[in-house]
Amino acid sequence: MSSSASISLTRFLIEEERAGHIHADLRLLIEVVARACKTISIAVGKGALGGVLGDAGTPGVASMNIQGEAQKKLDVLSNEILLEANAWGGHLAGLASEEMDHSQAIPDVYPRGNYLLMFDPLDGSSNIDVNISVGTIFSVLRCPDGVVTPADEHFLQPGTAQVAAGYCTYGPSTMLVLTVGHGTHAFTLDREVGSFVLTTRGMRIPEETREFAVNVSNQRFWEAPMQRYVGDMLTGKEGPRGKDFNMRWVASMVADVHRILTRGGIFSYPLDSKCRDKGGKLRLMYEANPMSFLVEQAGGAATTGRMRMLEVQPTGLHMRVPVFMGSKQEVETATRYHREHD
Ligand code: AHG
Ligand code: MN
Ligand code: MN
Ligand code: MN
Repeated sequence: MSSSASISLTRFLIEEERAGHIHADLRLLIEVVARACKTISIAVGKGALGGVLGDAGTPGVASMNIQGEAQKKLDVLSNEILLEANAWGGHLAGLASEEMDHSQAIPDVYPRGNYLLMFDPLDGSSNIDVNISVGTIFSVLRCPDGVVTPADEHFLQPGTAQVAAGYCTYGPSTMLVLTVGHGTHAFTLDREVGSFVLTTRGMRIPEETREFAVNVSNQRFWEAPMQRYVGDMLTGKEGPRGKDFNMRWVASMVADVHRILTRGGIFSYPLDSKCRDKGGKLRLMYEANPMSFLVEQAGGAATTGRMRMLEVQPTGLHMRVPVFMGSKQEVETATRYHREHD
């Protein structure tokens, strides 16, 4: 076989198993999730032609999720696709989702395994109806030994316990970005063949950056250190940072973090007075932790502004956290502004 042949996700995962980085069960679980993401990509790609745009629920009666958000049809459809794909997957003891109030143990009518899967089935839902990139985020933990029917509390493991994490971004191309703890790697969907092909082995985030991603419309609600941190960036090279910055904000975490994994930058959704009582905007278990694992494996950093994200001890399945992640030196700078203020 020619060595220049493209490397499929399947081959990559078999190589990871041969290297002792993953077990066969985890390899097969990742393949199930990747297949589900391909199905979601097809649904997302149909747009207005697929009858999948707009809000879920019935006219005038929104379908609300536990987050207090009005669900989009694609939130619900993507969630169902991931549930159905994993029902007969045979590698899970349980799963949890942004779109479900509580976790679900795999019923014994189905084959079961030893992993716990958490996911944000559709990230960036507010962008669906305006045809801007959205994505799916997933995180894999081990089910604690001796637990046959996992409940919410068995999912409450810090991000350092993740055995795999990834996202699929449904953009101009559909890309799967994955880590199993040995680097962060990108695969692009070959739509003609229907398989993910390795397109970047070992993504690396530049340590410095001139680009930040934050929703500055919340500026007046931020804590003082965040106002000072962004204020100093906005004064450009004449100011204390000594350089000009650029801004990008897609409002799909997957799209913003993918840009940062690709060319550097810092992504932040800090505490503000609107979301402080909830602990933040973004969810730890299926947004911040998987993205932090991917970013750290690519040489970046991820904190809450006060501590390393992956060391946060979860207190609830839908726990929210302030988020700073991306180029290592910039995240350290932003975190220093917060620590100096405390
Ligand atoms: P989701 O669509 O899964 O609920 O997540 C949306 C999140 C995240 O993707 C994005 O970075 C952030 O919400 C955008 O928040 P704003 O709309 O407040 O900018
Ligand atoms: Mn949502
Ligand atoms: Mn999300
Ligand atoms: Mn979502």
